[in-house]
Amino acid sequence: MSALTPDLLRELVAEARLAPSVHNIQPTRWRLLDGERLALVDDTSVRAPVADPSGHDVLVSHGAALEGMSLALNRRGLAITAMTTIEQPLSPQSAALCSFAIRQGVAPDPLAGLVTRRMSWRGKFVASPEDGASLVQLAVARDDLVCIGDRPAIADIAGWADQAEYSFVRGDDYRAELLEWMRLSPGHPHYLHDGLNRDALAMNAVEATAARYVLGSLFKPLDRLGLAAALLADSAKTASAAAIVLFCRPVGEDPLTTGRHFYRSWLEIDRAGFAACPISALSDHPDFNDRLRKLARIGGELRLVNVFRVGRSAKPVKPRHFRLPVEQLIV
Ligand SMILES: Cc1cc2nc3c(=O)[nH]c(=O)nc-3n(C[C@H](O)[C@H](O)[C@H](O)COP(=O)(O)O)c2cc1C
Repeated sequence: MSALTPDLLRELVAEARLAPSVHNIQPTRWRLLDGERLALVDDTSVRAPVADPSGHDVLVSHGAALEGMSLALNRRGLAITAMTTIEQPLSPQSAALCSFAIRQGVAPDPLAGLVTRRMSWRGKFVASPEDGASLVQLAVARDDLVCIGDRPAIADIAGWADQAEYSFVRGDDYRAELLEWMRLSPGHPHYLHDGLNRDALAMNAVEATAARYVLGSLFKPLDRLGLAAALLADSAKTASAAAIVLFCRPVGEDPLTTGRHFYRSWLEIDRAGFAACPISALSDHPDFNDRLRKLARIGGELRLVNVFRVGRSAKPVKPRHFRLPVEQLIV
């Protein structure tokens, strides 16, 4: 067992927080229980109840943060051990979900070095002669990823993604929640810290202003005129992907475990030389989830948890991570 000093904990949390979370809400906190055990704490005040009514994506986000912690430990020759799952309320707004000790002596994890490079790429992709080899690398690396590289199928899925997203966006509550987590101007007090800002969304100032109106006060008139769907369409970006990658996990799997694999899959996508962005609407919408399962012949023992579009970014990307300060994450 290895002791966790406050300085080491701050370093570890600084890296663990780079894990993805739904809408970048960052629900995970950390608490040192005694010098030897660390608890993953759920900040229950941080939720996206309309986009994620069951709370599954919050748990997947916690799982990703847990994997982020494991990777941060790995870079220091340390590993998680003696994990126990608990569901222990700590305050009206927080509950510990699991706790673990730290042990020394672990083989280097090849994904640990990709943590600072990975990000959601929401721009267009460009084709490369290397795409085929990268897709083979990805398919060989993980048996929970199904890669669809067939151009007509990708074009169909791009259209489905827009239909699925639009069916959710038509909900007043959904748009309100989305706008609540969007930081469309750099003057927003949370711009650098959480939610989806204009840089992360790959929008310029004009596009960000347009998005504010299209998702806000102009949505209903534009919807009535049949214009809103075209204004919100993302299909050109999805259709430019080298592949659509289906992330499938065993039915009934603990969501924290699913989240750990979700993050590892995304890092594996980066290791193959691609950038990626999830399209949760496709897995969240029962009809489109069904269509994708049929298309890829996914067996009944697997759940289609999420869908990525992957490819090479059309311009060089300098990864940026907008995250809460470390002090706020240690409770
Ligand atoms: C469970 C889950 C679902 C997500 N769904 C989407 C999505 O549908 N669309 C999207 O653009 N990003 C999605 N994301 C990505 C997050 O918005 C992203 O990880 C977060 O904003 C942090 O940014 P980063 O990935 O660039 O570090 C999802 C992330 C998680 C963990």
